Amino acid sequence: MKEALEQLRKKAQDELSAANSRDEILALRTKYLGRKGELTQILRQVKDIPPDERPAVGQLSNIIKESLSTAIDERLEEIDTAGRDDALSGERIDVTLPGRGIAYGKAHPITTVSREICDIFSVLGFSVVEGPEIEYDYYNFEALNIPKDHPARDMQDTFYVEDDIVLRTHTSPVQIRVMEKMKPPVRIICPGKVYRPDSDVSHTPMFHQIEGLLVDKGITFGDLKGTLTYFLEQVFGKGTILRFRPSFFPFTEPSAEVDIQCVMCRGDGCRVCGQSGWLEILGSGMVDPELYRTVGYDPEEVSGFAFGLGVERIAMLKYGISDIRLFYEGDQRFLKQF
Ligand code: FA5
Ligand code: MG
Repeated sequence: MKEALEQLRKKAQDELSAANSRDEILALRTKYLGRKGELTQILRQVKDIPPDERPAVGQLSNIIKESLSTAIDERLEEIDTAGRDDALSGERIDVTLPGRGIAYGKAHPITTVSREICDIFSVLGFSVVEGPEIEYDYYNFEALNIPKDHPARDMQDTFYVEDDIVLRTHTSPVQIRVMEKMKPPVRIICPGKVYRPDSDVSHTPMFHQIEGLLVDKGITFGDLKGTLTYFLEQVFGKGTILRFRPSFFPFTEPSAEVDIQCVMCRGDGCRVCGQSGWLEILGSGMVDPELYRTVGYDPEEVSGFAFGLGVERIAMLKYGISDIRLFYEGDQRFLKQF
């Protein structure tokens, strides 16, 4: 009996040291100490041995039971600690390593300037509308008082899509589209892309304009001048040197173009301003009564002004950019500056 107990102790100890996981150890506990476990089975036979041997066997079996139970608990504890240490060393983070930067995008400078301009006019009560970039000849030219074969068509070189369809050369067609749909008072701006076969330091074949149109009772040239001056002072700061220069557009009368002193040469004349010292940023004027007749407004009742400004030109002046084409070369080094 004693022998059987000693053998069992040895076997259990060997198996315990070979066991490497929590599950294996728990299985050993059941195997030896459980209700149907091997040690328990042996203890049941104690009643069959001679009475004088019983105390010694009982004592031994209790010692074995105790020590096995303790050994199992210790192994469990060991395994748990080892697992925690593994996890800790495996997951260790080196906090001294530099972080991985997240590359982020941002708006193109022309988008930013466009939004700034729209914000300024929104404060003045203008609402933002949009129109198509592929436009009927009718809206781009005819309804704006520029009939076919009229010399005024030469003012804007044009990409034709079909005989009667063009890539809009300006945002002015939106004036007609808006007036056809709305009764006065009208107070809108329209940002968007326009196209002309042009390319040099101050011209690109695709560029952005923002059209403005205000029609109401009793609007004068003074309102036009006041509005545009206020706007330009918001963009460039008070005391900006600008001039209203008499001009001609078939759809406004009288008309004026606005120039800003060239920021590159401060008015001395350079390559960017074509030696003139000025950079033209917008065209404007009082809406020609002929347009009111076209859209069914009464020119005796209402008057108004319109303007179309070049967003790239404003961005060039704002940021001191000497070649408009830089905006569209997609060079990250250039674009990241803004
Ligand atoms: C017009 O396009 C008129 N529709 C403006 C207008 C609207 C007048 C309403 C009266 C009433 P213009 O062709 O001058 O006008 O162009 C307006 C502005 O667009 C110019 O002042 C200039 O700032 C800009 N611009 C013209 N062509 C280019 C180009 N190729 N690249 C970049 N900007 C240009
Ligand atoms: Mg012009």
